[in-house]
Amino acid sequence: MLDATHAALTPAPSAPAVIRREDYTAPAWTVPTTTLDFALDPAVTRVRARLSVERSGAHDLPLRLDGAGQRIVSVAVDGVSVNEWRIEGEQLVLPLPGDAHVIETEVEIAPERNTQLMGLYASGGNLCTQCEAEGFRRITYFPDRPDVLSTYSVRMTADKARFPVLLANGDPVAQGDNDDGTHWAEWHDPFPKPSYLFALVAGDLAVNRGTFTTRSGRTVELGIWVREADLPKTDHALHALKLSMAWDERVYGREYDLDVFNIVAVDDFNFGAMENKGLNIFNSRYILADPDTATDYDYDAIAAVVAHEYFHNWSGNRITCRDWFQLSLKEGFTVYRDQGFSADQGSAAVKRIEDVRGLRAGQFPEDASPLAHPVRPESYLEISNFYTATIYNKGAELIRMMATILGPERFRAATDLYFERFDGTAATCEDYVACMEEAGGVDLSQFRLWYSQAGTPRVSVSLEHEPGSGRATLNLAQKVPDTPGQSNKQPQVLPLKIRLFGAETGEALTDEQLVILSDASASVTFETIPERPIVSLNRGFSAPIVIESDRTAADLAFLARHDDDPFARYEAMQQLMLDTLVAATIEGKADHEAVIAAVADTLDNPELDPAFVAEAVLLPSESFVGDQMSTVDPNAIHDAREALRRDLGRELEARWRTAYEAGSGRAYAHTPEDKGRRRLRNVALGYIAASGAADAAKLAYAQFADADNMTDRQGALTTLVGTHSEERDAALDIFYQRYQGNSLVLDKWFQTQALSSADDTPQLVAELARHPDFSLANPNRARSLIGAFGVNQRAFHAEGGAGYRWLADQLIALDALNPQTAAKLLPPLGRWRRFDPTRAALMRAELERIVAHPGLSKDLFEQASKSLE
Ligand code: PHE
Ligand code: ZN
Repeated sequence: MLDATHAALTPAPSAPAVIRREDYTAPAWTVPTTTLDFALDPAVTRVRARLSVERSGAHDLPLRLDGAGQRIVSVAVDGVSVNEWRIEGEQLVLPLPGDAHVIETEVEIAPERNTQLMGLYASGGNLCTQCEAEGFRRITYFPDRPDVLSTYSVRMTADKARFPVLLANGDPVAQGDNDDGTHWAEWHDPFPKPSYLFALVAGDLAVNRGTFTTRSGRTVELGIWVREADLPKTDHALHALKLSMAWDERVYGREYDLDVFNIVAVDDFNFGAMENKGLNIFNSRYILADPDTATDYDYDAIAAVVAHEYFHNWSGNRITCRDWFQLSLKEGFTVYRDQGFSADQGSAAVKRIEDVRGLRAGQFPEDASPLAHPVRPESYLEISNFYTATIYNKGAELIRMMATILGPERFRAATDLYFERFDGTAATCEDYVACMEEAGGVDLSQFRLWYSQAGTPRVSVSLEHEPGSGRATLNLAQKVPDTPGQSNKQPQVLPLKIRLFGAETGEALTDEQLVILSDASASVTFETIPERPIVSLNRGFSAPIVIESDRTAADLAFLARHDDDPFARYEAMQQLMLDTLVAATIEGKADHEAVIAAVADTLDNPELDPAFVAEAVLLPSESFVGDQMSTVDPNAIHDAREALRRDLGRELEARWRTAYEAGSGRAYAHTPEDKGRRRLRNVALGYIAASGAADAAKLAYAQFADADNMTDRQGALTTLVGTHSEERDAALDIFYQRYQGNSLVLDKWFQTQALSSADDTPQLVAELARHPDFSLANPNRARSLIGAFGVNQRAFHAEGGAGYRWLADQLIALDALNPQTAAKLLPPLGRWRRFDPTRAALMRAELERIVAHPGLSKDLFEQASKSLE
């Protein structure tokens, strides 16, 4: 009753404007130079901007400058203060008589009250900026769109004791002290850039310095800036930066172009990191590492993100995006580049497995959800919502497919052409594809559908063999599923790497071939195939698709044993596990023999790299099993998966213990071999615990207590958290005490509990939200609890809908502080169509409650309202 009255009195939120790709027009005014002068103060910062503006083409449109949230102090044109300006919406509109003018504005902003972490904000006592995508307008009035490129000069003045370090883009020019306790610094960036790449940092920071000499002999001063106490944790990031710089020269011919390259780590950050020209700003979780606080996974993620942001200097900064619909131009390509870098640092096969696992966990569900969108979207309400797995990871798969179609030499020629032709400009996805076509000598007309059609293509495969004639026929058929606003889609270009193996001899019967499926269906014939063939398909995951094949459990087990492509081997094993789990969930029948035999074989094979073995023997996640089913039954999936885990643990217990022992008793070293051993040891521990062995909790606890590194400690904690034991509570307690005050490690403490498969996770998570160390103001902390709970299928979907209500409550509270981070955590509620009517209704009710909440941000409004459609 009360609610109904309340809703009736609340005015409906005015519908935010839809931005459409087809409406793009070139900027009416350009801004060749920008001079900024900051009087920095956390409470009130004064920003004076001086823009030279030029009319572009013949028109009489006024100059429109974007703004948001600042207090305007003055506006001058050509040195004269004027009154002929108006505010329309959030834009400052200035009619200008001539073709070139100088505009000066002065505004005030309040960094310490900035909780959304866009624009200039305070973090840990320092001041920093985040401008992508539309944060620069929160700093000063400007045409805040990526196709307005300007050369920036920046002057900063700040209290010297509080902010001894002043950094901005480009190269330092001059600095000095004032008499009043303040000091100043000037920076100049000679490369024209869009406003989203602007950055400054003012703070009390220590630096880990290095140098890099580029291939043409230029010496670059490198600096990783952190709080003093964190300095010992920066060597890994600095090393990764140097490796990245050398790799981009060697693999893409790209050299760095300024005299300095600085990275600053901050604790409060909405994303992973940001590629601002010459001044990358990072979430501290992607910089800080030492063996006691960072896992092997963290080390790899740090190297990958350092490389990613560095690579943006060419794919993103030298060549930027014309408009935000082209976001994947820089992100898809840069992810592809960082994946290549990481593959070259260790095992390429394991890296590919991890990337595909990530794609399946993050992008495939998105493509099958109400939030599905093409790699180049057609419209948005809030661009921040489009920093998605589709833009990043599917976008990278598109680049990979083009690289596969072109082959390495022609792909390199095509990227050279792209970098040369579009250097210094704001380009489009179309420009990129046109370079691939031109230098690659291929026609990519139909390939372009990958950019415009959403949804994960499904390919069905069958293989026939006529023993008499020796002819084998592979039948392929594809279907691109409907997604919101898109149905009856055209077939796409699917590059499929395939190879045939003999079922009797285990021999390869063909070479690896690249089959390009571009029709709805096609057949490929092979002659002189002497024995029944088994097809190894989509090797290396050459196309980001779902395969439905008629391969039997025996065929899959065969491939898991004999395939020479490590990815295909892993894939066969995963498919076998998935088929087994889906059958067990639907039919309740549990035939575990084939999986157990294949896992045993893998563990027994001395030629396999332990890191690969660790990946190959892991069961698909509960949510990935759910993704295969039309109606997800979270409890049945959990039970089926636990039963298989238990059988694997019991039947192969001796082998798990051997693998466990092989990884034990070694002092920590950060080598690929030791990382692989640690990974397999943690997987083995999980299976020993799953077996129900009486000593499992003791074993895990001993590992926890004796660990000399975070990988072992957190691995043990993860296993313990899934048990009901005294050891679990003791370990959680000790972990908390030990790392109190280290926020990155406390994030792990929250996250490990929120991901737990134990029965009491929903209650525990609700309690943790009231823990004194929990805070919505820090995005890492919010994600560690809310984000982790949302992907814990069994806990989130526990009967009764308490998990849904809890998530909606958290999102509404977080939205008031930080809309971007809130909106990122909403997607689990949007999956209601995949659940039974009772759960679906409860999920929808929470989405409706969110949409109706007064004062909702457009970020959360867009995600919640689209999720209801
Ligand atoms: N452009 C950043 C990256 O991928 C991500 C980012 C987007 C960071 C928006 C902050 C804000 O490297
Ligand atoms: Zn990026």
